[in-house]
Amino acid sequence: MAEVVIVENAEAAGALVATEIVELIERRADAVLGLATGSTPLPVYQALRTQLAGRDVSQVRGFALDEYVGIDPAHPESYRSVITREVVEPLGLDPQRIHVPNGALATIQHAGDDYEAAIDAAGGVDLQILGIGTDGHIGFNEPGSSFASRTRVKTLTEQTREDNARFFDSIDDVPMHCITQGLGTILKARHLVLLAFGEGKAEAVAGAVEGPLTALLPGSAIQLHPHATIVVDEAAASRLALADYYRYTFANKPAWQGI
Ligand code: F6R
Repeated sequence: MAEVVIVENAEAAGALVATEIVELIERRADAVLGLATGSTPLPVYQALRTQLAGRDVSQVRGFALDEYVGIDPAHPESYRSVITREVVEPLGLDPQRIHVPNGALATIQHAGDDYEAAIDAAGGVDLQILGIGTDGHIGFNEPGSSFASRTRVKTLTEQTREDNARFFDSIDDVPMHCITQGLGTILKARHLVLLAFGEGKAEAVAGAVEGPLTALLPGSAIQLHPHATIVVDEAAASRLALADYYRYTFANKPAWQGI
């Protein structure tokens, strides 16, 4: 069963996950981070600015989860730009070591295989940060995605395009297609850390953590992972049947265990 940690707010979640990442980098200077975009991971990246200050991060490597297909990489909302702006620059990471799937149309036929090869060559992802969509997607694995899927092109649902329209001038500007790590790719990471905040995510979180394993809710794939940590605020936890047990478990967890 995934470990569920219910925290007071997004800031507390960011601090908790950032601490885990700092400890990982202390153990392994060239740690491989799996980087999510969107709003949810921002408190983690914010907390890392402070917690990593003064530390050597020159060897740290990273792989983004996904990218829009056909978007100009220089567009401010391409995930290449977002990762550069929110992660690489503020944390002082080496841009050469941070990878984002290539959404360029000219090479899209083999971009998925290329990305899988790059992750494998790096020895796999140590800690994968995840958000979850209101329709239950992780990465951009929309409902119906195979649990065995690898990095490939997907069509975004109308729901996801509406959710992401806030980053663009209008929904018409939100790309139709994306290239995303598959559920099978994500499950290969050694530690999954899924964050979710707000009432709007409560149903997806409950389905992912406690619902049946189903392609209809791709986030439920996390139940197959031996080390998955779910960090949620009270609102996102509000539909969890076992919320009291998760609080009790975390309150009684030995300090040495980490998350
Ligand atoms: C982003 C990603 C998506 C988001 C999800 C939630 O790289 O893969 O799965 O995590 O769409 O987005 P936010 O955090 O903006 O609510």
